[in-house]
Amino acid sequence: MALLDRAIVHLLPAVPRPVVRIISSRYIAGSDLHDAVETVRRLNAHGKKATIDVLGEEIATEEETRAFARAYENVLDAIAREQLQSGISVKLTALGLQLDEQLCRENLDAVVDAAAAYGNFVRIDMEDATTTDATLRLYRELREAGRDNVGVVLQASLRRTVDDVAALVDLKPSVRLCKGIYVESPAIQYRDPNEVRASFMHSLDALLDAGCFVGIATHDDRLLDESKRVLAERGLGTDAYEFQMLLGVRPHVGDALVAEGHKLRIYVPFGAQWYEYSLRRLQENPSIAGYIAADTVGRILGRKNGSA
Ligand code: FDA
Repeated sequence: MALLDRAIVHLLPAVPRPVVRIISSRYIAGSDLHDAVETVRRLNAHGKKATIDVLGEEIATEEETRAFARAYENVLDAIAREQLQSGISVKLTALGLQLDEQLCRENLDAVVDAAAAYGNFVRIDMEDATTTDATLRLYRELREAGRDNVGVVLQASLRRTVDDVAALVDLKPSVRLCKGIYVESPAIQYRDPNEVRASFMHSLDALLDAGCFVGIATHDDRLLDESKRVLAERGLGTDAYEFQMLLGVRPHVGDALVAEGHKLRIYVPFGAQWYEYSLRRLQENPSIAGYIAADTVGRILGRKNGSA
């Protein structure tokens, strides 16, 4: 299967852009802010909250990082103006993390302050393992400076995550817990799916023990069932957690969570660089190409069978 996934990724650049656009339109709201607003409005109408991500690639200059921060301020403005139920998700590399940590901090401060002025919340996405220390460091700095409308992401597939939870809980952080999308060296990352799940559940337990708010970000049936069991055993209400999913991924599973009374937030990426972003993510993690290919073929076959 891994070979097939990698073959799909190699073939992708040869697939005509309009075809990639049709396939990716399920997972990406569109190229501009208006597309994101319409997507979030639709999700809100179905009882789902959102977090909006501005897609960007290859940030090389200070001016580009400042433009990114301004783009997020526009998103926050649109969320308030359109009265949407949505926060934002930011990648620190887009704000300059790999150029200059101080520049990144300034951009992040600007975005977090703008969000606070609107009564909104900023989630700092977690990127590849070269950024983990700096991301957690900046998160701690913000919180110690009294900025509370900000949360972070931890990746259960990293061996360090259980320790990161322990090191963070004094801040009572709002954490999005996910498996982690980046493929890292086995020395620092669990590869066995069951080890990743065990780390996920261990981290979830530790975060809930410490009274942290957790965004349980997964589409994995086993983790969803286990998490629901843990939440029920602890008698936790929806002020203590929410489920989170990616736009277009297993939406029927998300519908079921909402119908059961859970809060659900959908990650909504948009941006002019949707094509570059899609290719890069697929190259980083070819198994996603397999998921998308299987899903696309399944939906085509489903339609042929008359079950849309
Ligand atoms: P798993 O990979 O086992 O997927 C379960 C099933 O879901 C698959 O069998 C497939 O059917 C479907 N599926 C999952 N991903 C799919 C996809 N992309 N396309 C189509 N089908 C898919 N990672 C990270 O490193 N940093 C981050 O900040 C975030 N942020 C984030 C936010 C939110 C809201 C979510 C849901 C996820 C992330 N992730 C992330 C990604 C996360 O780490 C992980 O890669 C994916 O969620 C897939 O892992 P699952 O737990 O869903 O399990």
